[in-house]
Amino acid sequence: MNSKGLSVSKNAVRLAAVALHLLLFGAASWAWSEPSGGQGPRVRWHPRRTPAGVEFVGDQTCAQCHKQTVAAHAGSPMALAMEPVASSKVLIENPSMTFRTGPYLYEIKREGSGSVYKVTDGKETVSLPILYAFGQGKAGQTYVLEYEGAWYESLVSYYNEVKGLDFTIGAPRTVPESLRKAVGRRLSERDVADCFSCHSTGGIVAGKLKLDKMTPGIRCEACHGPGGAHAEAARKKEPSGDLIYNPRVLSGDQLSQDFCASCHRGNDEFGLLQSMELNNVRFQPYRMFHSKCYSDDRRISCTACHDPHEPVRTDAAYYDSKCAACHAPKGRTPALRTAAKSQAAERPCPVGTKDCVSCHMPKLGPPEAHFKFTDHFIRVVKSNEVYPN
Ligand code: HEC
Ligand code: HEC
Ligand code: HEC
Ligand code: HEC
Ligand code: HEC
Ligand code: HEC
Ligand code: HEC
Repeated sequence: MNSKGLSVSKNAVRLAAVALHLLLFGAASWAWSEPSGGQGPRVRWHPRRTPAGVEFVGDQTCAQCHKQTVAAHAGSPMALAMEPVASSKVLIENPSMTFRTGPYLYEIKREGSGSVYKVTDGKETVSLPILYAFGQGKAGQTYVLEYEGAWYESLVSYYNEVKGLDFTIGAPRTVPESLRKAVGRRLSERDVADCFSCHSTGGIVAGKLKLDKMTPGIRCEACHGPGGAHAEAARKKEPSGDLIYNPRVLSGDQLSQDFCASCHRGNDEFGLLQSMELNNVRFQPYRMFHSKCYSDDRRISCTACHDPHEPVRTDAAYYDSKCAACHAPKGRTPALRTAAKSQAAERPCPVGTKDCVSCHMPKLGPPEAHFKFTDHFIRVVKSNEVYPN
């Protein structure tokens, strides 16, 4: 698919892919600026734009001092955003998967410490080693392949819900026109840079793919920038805090709509994301922006509810205190007294006293995604409501 030839199609599913794959590097225009005089102010760091000359020291270095953070982060979804094929849980636990569409038969098969992606039309067969497995597989996993000298995204993906293969989100769900098309979507250089900058660390430097420098998943320095100088100063017991970027300096809105949204997608892309209809439910910064709860307040920013260093909490009760930071539970003094838009927030919920998110953040998703995302547009959900784009 070609980004120039793209008009807003009615096919929202397809748009989901287009959105994910083609359009990136959001509007935020942060640049990496060298601290003046070597020790300067905290620079701003854009998680997806590693400028030329920047070297990462890797998580093992951070682990020398931030042992617990590194250990907790290792099991977090972001650290697992790309699985090395040799140790891929999904590929090891599913050693043989098949899928059929029209005359095409697909098979993903474990062979030694690798996996092979095979597609045949009954006469000819294309057989390719899987190079990269994208996604931890909580919803699904998609494969990146090399075919005839170009990069391809697999036409079929693994979905956890069905424990097997189906069309990749956004791929046309029709019988492919040729064996080549049946392999998947050919990725442009730009597509490849986009994929690797959202799912790995250090692999894209100054917009160019540097696979020898790539670490799968979102690692410490993807969010904190290069840590070499910080580590060295800390080792010498010199002041080191200013030599590493801490997103804590951002306001709530900057954190949500610029920083986390550089990968999770935010309101900067309003027009496109709105046109995706239900498919935009997976873009949390965008969804949250449209909630009445949303403001620059840190209590409603991404890190109010998610520690980016840990696995996501799935117990609804965990989030009650987050809501209570602004909404008074029945019989208690409201916390939001001083805020401008405080009146409705101060009224206690007339319906529930716990598990707030179970009613106000419903789980939704298009059937092809085989996954229900949590709608971050916090609201009163009416029965039979039309999904608010
Ligand atoms: C030799 C020990 C050491 C190593 C290695 C180290 N840190 Fe630190 N880190 C520290 C200390 C000590 C502080 C507290 C500094 C302060 O408050 O002045 C700190 C603070 C931080 C902060 C908060 C900074 C602030 O003041 O806001 C971040 C973020 C951070 N480290 C990330 C990292 C990352 C990422 C790595 C790996 C690239 C790393 N550190 C490697 C010792 C270390
Ligand atoms: C460099 C890109 C990038 C940045 C920046 C980023 N994320 Fe993520 N995040 C991802 C990717 C990719 C995944 C999907 C991992 C997977 O499921 O395979 C993810 C997954 C998550 C998940 C868990 C999803 C799940 O289903 O378990 C949470 C929660 C999350 N991110 C929160 C945040 C927050 C909060 C921030 C900002 C502090 C942030 N992310 C910044 C790329 C990023
Ligand atoms: C703009 C950043 C961005 C780009 C570009 C991107 N992704 Fe993602 N991807 C994410 C984020 C954030 C998530 C987690 C939220 C979600 O599931 O949408 C994710 C989730 C996924 C998942 C589901 C993971 C799970 O937990 O089940 C797969 C599979 C995936 N991406 C594959 C790809 C592939 C393949 C490409 C390139 C062809 C790609 N992505 C490009 C940001 C991106
Ligand atoms: C997805 C982005 C992301 C990743 C990956 C990430 N961090 Fe952070 N980190 C943050 C954010 C955001 C904050 C500030 C939290 C807040 O908003 O209060 C932070 C804060 C910190 C702090 C300072 C804590 C404080 O109290 O200010 C340290 C230390 C730190 N991170 C270390 C690490 C280490 C070590 C790793 C790798 C294991 C890592 N981080 C990976 C986003 C990330
Ligand atoms: C008020 C609390 C709250 C805030 C703020 C919040 N989230 Fe969430 N988030 C949740 C809940 C609840 C879940 C569902 C957890 C579960 O049950 O799996 C969730 C799940 C997720 C997931 C997993 C995929 C999904 O849709 O279930 C991602 C990714 C995520 N959040 C990213 C973000 C980002 C990025 C931000 C900032 C824009 C953010 N969240 C802000 C409460 C919050
Ligand atoms: C930063 C403070 C803040 C947090 C945290 C917060 N809210 Fe709100 N919420 C508000 C404000 C402000 C309003 C709007 C009040 C008004 O319109 O006057 C609001 C409105 C609402 C409404 C009414 C929406 C509507 O469409 O009428 C609901 C429901 C709601 N919040 C639920 C929640 C739940 C559930 C959580 C936790 C997951 C939460 N809020 C977290 C500040 C917050
Ligand atoms: C069983 C589902 C359910 C649960 C659980 C629930 N709510 Fe509600 N909530 C509703 C419904 C339905 C309404 C709309 C009631 C109406 O308009 O008559 C509502 C309304 C609200 C409002 C708007 C009040 C107003 O006067 O405009 C807020 C704020 C709110 N809830 C917050 C919360 C918080 C915080 C929690 C957790 C302590 C919570 N809710 C738990 C279903 C629920």
